[in-house]
Amino acid sequence: MVNLSFHPIAEETEEMWRLVLEWRNSPPVRFQMLDQSPIDWETHCRWIGSQKEPSPNSLARVAYGGGRPLGVISLNRIDRKQSHSDWGMYIGVPELRGRGFGNAMVDEILRWGFDEERLARLYTSVLSDNVAALGLYLKKGFRLEGNWRNHVMARDGRYLDLLWLGLQRAEWSEKRGQTPSSPQ
Ligand SMILES: CC(C)(COP(=O)(O)OP(=O)(O)OC[C@H]1O[C@@H](n2cnc3c(N)ncnc32)[C@H](O)[C@@H]1OP(=O)(O)O)[C@@H](O)C(=O)NCCC(=O)NCCS
Repeated sequence: MVNLSFHPIAEETEEMWRLVLEWRNSPPVRFQMLDQSPIDWETHCRWIGSQKEPSPNSLARVAYGGGRPLGVISLNRIDRKQSHSDWGMYIGVPELRGRGFGNAMVDEILRWGFDEERLARLYTSVLSDNVAALGLYLKKGFRLEGNWRNHVMARDGRYLDLLWLGLQRAEWSEKRGQTPSSPQ
């Protein structure tokens, strides 16, 4: 059983913001993202700054294991009217991948999105060669909802499919053996 804690990135120190940018721009993370171009410091600070505004459409939290920062979870493009959000995650510390933290991070995204934000649906996209992420998300109950064929050019010049996965709050509640409550 992996125990993680999570803290809003907007409340972190500048040192942590720099570490997160370093993670996000590192090749193993960047090349699994839809937008694979490196992010500059100003853009990064704008993204963090926007999370301090009322009703932000993007929110991120830093994941800690045993007091050590290890990755990021985010709700992106939060649409409160439609009650849905895109989400994302990554582990920034290479030696901590493949050790079960991803599993606990998805659990927290689901709790955050469905229980805390009261959203009705969560969705994400995965490059078709990201076997770790795909296997993990399907195991957590996400369903394959779409396949955009040859949508993203990988760094070796090959085109990869972009897979879309979604989960409804009612499905998640059912999987947890609870009665779903209606969105607020
Ligand atoms: C994808 C990612 C978040 C998964 O987190 P993780 O901690 O490495 O994964 P876990 O250890 O929790 O393992 C999750 C599942 O994936 C499987 N898995 C992990 N690494 C794998 C690999 N390289 N190949 C195949 N399966 C793998 C595990 O076996 C596990 O399944 P199981 O519980 O049935 O055994 C993490 O590897 C990461 O941050 N990668 C780089 C960025 C990224 O890809 N982000 C997601 C973009 S969609």
